[in-house]
Amino acid sequence: MYNLLKGKKGIIFGALNEHSIAWKTAERAHEEGAKFVLTNAPASIRMGELDVLAKKTGSQIIAADATSIRDLEHLVEKSMDILGGKIDFVLHSIGMSVNVRKGKSYTDPNYDFTTKGWDVSAVSFHKMLNVLYKKEAMNDWGSIVALTYMAAQRVFPDYNDMADNKAYLESVARSFGYFFGRDYKVRVNTISQSPTPTTAGKGVKGFDGFIAYSEKMSPLGNATALECADYTISMFSDLTKKVTLQNLFHDGGFSNMGVSDAVLENFE
Ligand SMILES: NC(=O)c1ccc[n+]([C@@H]2O[C@H](COP(=O)([O-])OP(=O)(O)OC[C@H]3O[C@@H](n4cnc5c(N)ncnc54)[C@H](O)[C@@H]3O)[C@@H](O)[C@H]2O)c1
Repeated sequence: MYNLLKGKKGIIFGALNEHSIAWKTAERAHEEGAKFVLTNAPASIRMGELDVLAKKTGSQIIAADATSIRDLEHLVEKSMDILGGKIDFVLHSIGMSVNVRKGKSYTDPNYDFTTKGWDVSAVSFHKMLNVLYKKEAMNDWGSIVALTYMAAQRVFPDYNDMADNKAYLESVARSFGYFFGRDYKVRVNTISQSPTPTTAGKGVKGFDGFIAYSEKMSPLGNATALECADYTISMFSDLTKKVTLQNLFHDGGFSNMGVSDAVLENFE
């Protein structure tokens, strides 16, 4: 590997199991020489799989519900204690729609579910940034990344209210990213990833058709979770210091396609 993160310290949110994008990112960050803390919601940690990743990467786990400012404050303080100083990189890899889980349609949601999903998937990013900012927890030239999906820009009907949550998340990256850049030289970006077969991904109705369509539409094919991890590592490295306030498509070219030969074939 390249030692791209040698000496860097981080916090990685959202590794649930070996399929998670955050899991692959933690493995890659470890290979590139980083030290980090792993965090997830208490209920997800109780499932037990995160221990395996912690052992493999020599990391500690700190539980935090990303919607709780108190939990986030505890997480950031404890992480700086464990890692011995300020933080260089943070990954927000969290998403959940209660409406999707409960089978509610976009046109007739339960608005309590809408609010909960928005808090978990989008406002949690603002809360995380808020705590890091107030505690002056980031080192100069640090990097913060959140994961998103192109339904923030274009219509994917079954993505439901997650489309709105991702649009909000991307806006927060720009708005808060300004203050982080101005005051701490920290960059804040979102990576817009291809459909990926993870627990969250497979929760979207019609996922199999969706991922197959996207594969045929993208000149380079869908990006895998591991490829997303690689891209994220480059965003945490010193090689991307002036990239900020961006929504970065990591999707094999899908986002700029109109139609491909492989898709057209089905209509001729
Ligand atoms: N899988 C895809 O197709 C795809 C595509 C583009 C973007 N993304 C995004 O990538 C990110 C990671 O998802 P994934 O696909 O790796 O799935 P995943 O299911 O492995 O990860 C989602 C994580 O969110 C965590 N989470 C849920 N509620 C939380 C809370 N209150 N506090 C803290 N953590 C909480 C879960 O425990 C889980 O670890 C999400 O933002 C997702 O929207 C996924």
